[in-house]
Amino acid sequence: MTLAIIVHGGAKTISEDKVAANKAGCLAAVEAGWAVLTKGGTAAEAVEAAIRVLEADQTFNASLGATLNSEGEVELDAAIMEGATLGWGAVAAVQGVRHPISVARKIMDEKPRFLVARSAERFAAENGLEMCKKEDLIADEQWHEWKEEQEVLDRPNTVGCVALDANGILAAGTSTGGTTGQLAGRVGDSAVIGSGLYADGKLGACSTTGDGESIIPVVLAKTAIDFLNGDRHPDEAAQMAINTLKSKVKGEAGCILLDHQGRVGWAYNSQDMACGYMTTGQDKPAVFTKKEASTAPVLV
Ligand code: GLY
Repeated sequence: MTLAIIVHGGAKTISEDKVAANKAGCLAAVEAGWAVLTKGGTAAEAVEAAIRVLEADQTFNASLGATLNSEGEVELDAAIMEGATLGWGAVAAVQGVRHPISVARKIMDEKPRFLVARSAERFAAENGLEMCKKEDLIADEQWHEWKEEQEVLDRPNTVGCVALDANGILAAGTSTGGTTGQLAGRVGDSAVIGSGLYADGKLGACSTTGDGESIIPVVLAKTAIDFLNGDRHPDEAAQMAINTLKSKVKGEAGCILLDHQGRVGWAYNSQDMACGYMTTGQDKPAVFTKKEASTAPVLV
């Protein structure tokens, strides 16, 4: 029985003073998801648990701490997918919802499975999910950057998680506040199955981060999973997916990937990417904000 979980806190530039917070946030998310897996929970439950931690952490662009749109408001997108059944749920452009990933997971059993804006918010409220005032999700730093039109140094970008449970089932989830100053109502890749995330019954599962307008046309998550064919290592497949993006479109992106053996992979073409993972066989989680020879997964 191999268990595995990998999270990302976004492909972005991470200034020196934010490295510790990014690592701490990824570690806490890995630990939350790992606790679910080791107690026999499902991959989807682990993904939800890990992403809820990242959504509650102002360091990351998801829910509290999300970047603000053209109207100075937070609008959130999230989705989750499970490989065995190809079940999925997604919400976009929601406000006043503390954990969009939980709304996405709740909607997995429903039809329609992709709700936006007021419909998604109504669904969340009717299903007893945690609501708040839309202003409650605006973090001080994001507000000052927006109000003073400050240059955004640490370009914020998306969180995600992929997990493999004791039944060999994979799930992936992604949650975001979108891009800084985005037009109200814009929706990127994060809630789009195939682009922002995908989970396959045979090959693997993937969550992505980066410029939605670049990720969508290369269907980045599904592209990365397809590269797992022929037993390719996920780290190589992740890099090939990012290379594909670079060769076809402009833009920054990253992805995290697990295969059915619980092998991990991650790649990005931004300056940094916050990432953490834990698998059966590791004695403690690994967390990074950069991939270097010393932090790359060993290809076995
Ligand atoms: N990847 C986040 C977005 O483009 O909305």
